Amino acid sequence: MKPHVKLFIPGPTEVAPEIFEAMSKPMIGHRQKVYSDLHRRVVAKLREVLFAPKHMMFLSASSATGLMEGFLRNCTAQKNLSCVCGAFSFRWHEIALANGIKADQITVDWGQPYNYEAIDKALATGQYDTITTVYNETSTGVVNDLELLSKIIKKYPNVIWGVDAVSGLMGAKIETERLGIDFLVASVQKCFALPPGLAIAAIAPRAMDRAKTIPVRGFYFDFLDYAKYDAKDQTPATPAVSMIYGLDAQLDRIMKEGLDNRFQRHHAMAERVRDWAEKHFALYPPRSASSETVTCIKNTRSLNVSDLNKKLAERNLHISNGYGDLKEKTFRIAHMGELTMKDIDEVLGVIEEIWQLDGGKKSGAKCCSNC
Ligand SMILES: Cc1ncc(COP(=O)(O)O)c(C=O)c1O
Repeated sequence: MKPHVKLFIPGPTEVAPEIFEAMSKPMIGHRQKVYSDLHRRVVAKLREVLFAPKHMMFLSASSATGLMEGFLRNCTAQKNLSCVCGAFSFRWHEIALANGIKADQITVDWGQPYNYEAIDKALATGQYDTITTVYNETSTGVVNDLELLSKIIKKYPNVIWGVDAVSGLMGAKIETERLGIDFLVASVQKCFALPPGLAIAAIAPRAMDRAKTIPVRGFYFDFLDYAKYDAKDQTPATPAVSMIYGLDAQLDRIMKEGLDNRFQRHHAMAERVRDWAEKHFALYPPRSASSETVTCIKNTRSLNVSDLNKKLAERNLHISNGYGDLKEKTFRIAHMGELTMKDIDEVLGVIEEIWQLDGGKKSGAKCCSNC
C-alpha cells in the first residue's frame, strides 16, 4: 500500500484512526430508538462546543452548501445582503440568485476582511431581512470579525444572520448564542477532522420563527420539517449514520483535548506559519485578519507551486495552491483539525529544503538527484 500523504489543505483533513473505527460500527435503523439516542447525544455535545444551548441542531447528509441553500430559502422573505470577500462568501450570493431570491452583494478587494461600516450602512436602508457572511474565507485566508458584525447586526432586529463557519468552526472559538448568530453552518471535513459527508447547522429560534412565515421553503432543507423530526431526535430523510457515529466519537476527543487547548493549538500553528510566511514571502491578507486555520501566502518569489506539490508528494505531504485566479500567485497551508506543531514544522522544513529558502540546503537535505 502506498504511504499516506499528509494533508495540509483546507479540507478534507487528517482523520484519527479511532474515528474510522467508530464509524465502522454495525448499521442501525434511523427510526430505531438506538439512532434517536445517538442523535440526542450528538446534539447535546454540539450545543456545548458551539456555545449554543438554545439553538436547534441540524445534522445533514449533505455538505454545508446544501444547508446554506436551506438557510436562504427558509429565512429570506424580502432581500438578502451577501457580504463577499472571496470565492466562498460569493457562494452565498450565487445560491440566492440560483433560487430566485432577491440579493445584493457588498464586496471588498480579495485579501481584505469586510468593510463593517459599509455593511452597517447597507443594513440601515431597511431593504434586507437576511445577511450572509463568511467567518473564515478559505480562498484568501481572511478571518472576519464576528464581534464587530454582531454589534452591527444586533441593531437590526428584522435581519436574520447566517454565518458560514465551514473552515473555522472547531479551530477557533465561536460563541454562537452570545454573538446572536441565527444560523451557523459547517461541514465536518475541516476542523472537526472527520471524513466528508456530513454538515451541521445551529439554528436560533428567531430563524425558525422566520421560516414559519415563508410559504415556499424547498423540500430537502425545509427547516420546519427538520424541526418536526428533531422533536423525535431524528432527521426527515436518511441520516449519514456512520458519519454521526464518527462525530459522536470525535466530539468526545475534542472535549477531552479541551476547547481552549484546541483553539490555542490552532492559534499557535497559525502564528508559526504566519511568522514563516513573513520571513520568506508575505501574507496575502493583513496579519490582523489572517485566519487561524489556513494561511494564504503571497508567492512573492514567483516559485512554481504545482511543482512544489509534486515534490512534496514524494515526501508524503500535500499543501494547497492558490484558489481560482490566485493559483500560483498564492499558496495555502492549512493548520486545522488533527495537525500539530510537529506536522507544521515538518512541512515548512521540507518546503524550505525543496525551494532552497535561506539560500542553501539544510543538512542532510537533497535538492535534486545529483546532490
Ligand atoms: C468557507 C467555505 N464555505 C463553504 C464551503 C463549501 O463547503 P462544502 O463543500 O462542504 O459544501 C467551503 C469549502 O471548502 C468553504 O471553505
